[in-house]
Amino acid sequence: MSNPATSRRGFLAGALAAGSAVAGSRAAAQTADPAITELQPWMQYLGDGVDARPYGTPSQYEAHVIRRNVDWLTADPVSSVNFTPLHELDGIITPNGLCFERHHAGIAEVDPAAHRLMINGLVDKPLVFTMQDLMRFPRENRVYFLECAANSGMEWAGAQLNGCQYTHGMIHNVMYTGIPLRLLLDEAGVKTNGKWIMPEGADASAMTRSIPIEKAMDDCLVAFKMNGEALRPEQGYPVRLVVPGWEGNMWIKWLRRIEVGDQPWHHREETSKYTDLLDNGIARRFTWEMDAKSVITNPSPQTPILHSKGPTVLTGVAWSGRGTIPRVDVTLDGGKNWQEARMSGPSFDKSMHRFYFEFDWDGKPLLLQSRAHDSTGYVQPTKNDLRAIRGENSIYHNNGIQTWHVNERGEAENVEVS
Ligand code: MTE
Ligand code: CO
Repeated sequence: MSNPATSRRGFLAGALAAGSAVAGSRAAAQTADPAITELQPWMQYLGDGVDARPYGTPSQYEAHVIRRNVDWLTADPVSSVNFTPLHELDGIITPNGLCFERHHAGIAEVDPAAHRLMINGLVDKPLVFTMQDLMRFPRENRVYFLECAANSGMEWAGAQLNGCQYTHGMIHNVMYTGIPLRLLLDEAGVKTNGKWIMPEGADASAMTRSIPIEKAMDDCLVAFKMNGEALRPEQGYPVRLVVPGWEGNMWIKWLRRIEVGDQPWHHREETSKYTDLLDNGIARRFTWEMDAKSVITNPSPQTPILHSKGPTVLTGVAWSGRGTIPRVDVTLDGGKNWQEARMSGPSFDKSMHRFYFEFDWDGKPLLLQSRAHDSTGYVQPTKNDLRAIRGENSIYHNNGIQTWHVNERGEAENVEVS
């Protein structure tokens, strides 16, 4: 005697009924779907045992979810950048293996046993810490975005790169475990004329930047863990500086030294680079805070709408170097009508935020844009608003509104509507 609920025939009848009920606008299944009616290969043999994958990696079917670079952007991969696949991610945390990389002299492969962090300059007591020494200081856990100031830099003059991975992928959002920098500076004792710090990297570029002492004493971290595990070599293993809300270039990786001084050092990365040349020939400098910005990640050029008209989920991310993102607006018609998106997930200071906008697509072309509001009341500008103030020469600090054109087939492309 077979129970209709557990027999193969009973199961199939149930599955078909359920299938047609959820199919909604799609044609109801009249014929049997082999994905339901046939035994799949993975149902017919035992899988790998527990120790087959001592460090887990994604499914083979997720092999397209990778960082990518743009070959022609830089002359050589050791001084180059690749991009976070924002269009493949959800929530707010960037998985460690997908955090974009920006190196000026390749990835330093640092042996933690031979690594030291020195604090010198205008301090009472110059100090050298081993990694073991650092582990004895109190730690904090905080989630922050890191955005390279050059993110969206190619888009100043007009729509350029086809995909949010390339237009906006020089950003990642990670939970760091680290020591408040203030604790280490207090241990060394900053002299009263110590007004700036200069963190230095242990890579062959010896990357250095000037940071005001107020920021160093406020929320900077000397971090050794990302999303719970050791920093990846690409992200500065064994220790990096975290400079919340400020441009990524200041987040020195493979941190080996912090000098305290009485004025900024005016190094390459704060003079010829990471400054914004205005139309009048004068350059804006020390523009450290990253302004509020957002982008729609789906649909976007690399992730078109795959269904015909009907219920559609639009989603994206927003962030601000000045606080949180209480609100994001979305338009489907290039800015004629704006509607408030739905924020979802935790809202941390100077972290990425996730928004959704569910709508019924009528199958007609769309001009999609998102506009972030941050907790200071600042509203993300259009690209024309930005150009009116900053001119056309800029590369860095482009936080203008991004547009995707979606055609009747659901394909998206990068266009500009300002
Ligand atoms: N630190 C060192 N030592 N060397 C570098 O090349 N690149 C900087 C910064 N810190 C860099 C560095 C730049 S320009 C950026 S945007 C961020 O690191 C990138 O961090 P990520 O590689 O974790 O994305
Ligand atoms: Co950078």
